[in-house]
Amino acid sequence: MSAIVYRVGHDLELDLVINLYQESTLGERRPIHDRDCMAAMIRNANLVVTAWEEDRLVGIARSLSDFAYCTYLSDLAVRRSHQRRGIGRELVRRTREAGGRAQIILLAAPAAVEYYPRLGFIRHPQAWILPAEASGQ
Ligand SMILES: CC(C)(COP(=O)(O)OP(=O)(O)OC[C@H]1O[C@@H](n2cnc3c(N)ncnc32)[C@H](O)[C@@H]1OP(=O)(O)O)[C@@H](O)C(=O)NCCC(=O)NCCS
Repeated sequence: MSAIVYRVGHDLELDLVINLYQESTLGERRPIHDRDCMAAMIRNANLVVTAWEEDRLVGIARSLSDFAYCTYLSDLAVRRSHQRRGIGRELVRRTREAGGRAQIILLAAPAAVEYYPRLGFIRHPQAWILPAEASGQ
């Protein structure tokens, strides 16, 4: 297997990102069939770290950060074929490094609840979500 190369930046081909979301299973919980929404998610994210094996996108950490106080890590995904090789850990490490002193906040997918404590995350008992309003309301 080739070495994994990490990059920071959101200038990414939409189809590559959608394919990665599908191939990591994160696509089951993200709006991958709404291309406009996915394009906006990439365009407006201001801290995106990606992992590449040659020209193949194998991992992503997509965040919004103020680079001072908080970074919201919305999507962390590693291609199934490349999981359990430390890529997720490295994507989070680089996200943290790029965010300066900002703390990272996230919502874990059900299958990843046991993952984040391994990376040093602390469960927060007072987290709240205000769901988006349905369109037309
Ligand atoms: C969760 C995910 C990002 C982890 O990425 P990864 O590159 O496979 O993880 P790493 O190789 O960095 O794993 C780091 C450690 O966590 C462990 N680990 C990996 N996935 C785990 C899981 N789902 N649950 C518990 N531990 C896990 C690894 O064994 C490793 O342990 P070690 O430090 O003792 O060696 C990846 O499995 C994924 O993309 N899952 C599907 C999408 C998803 O659920 N994303 C999270 C959205 S919140």
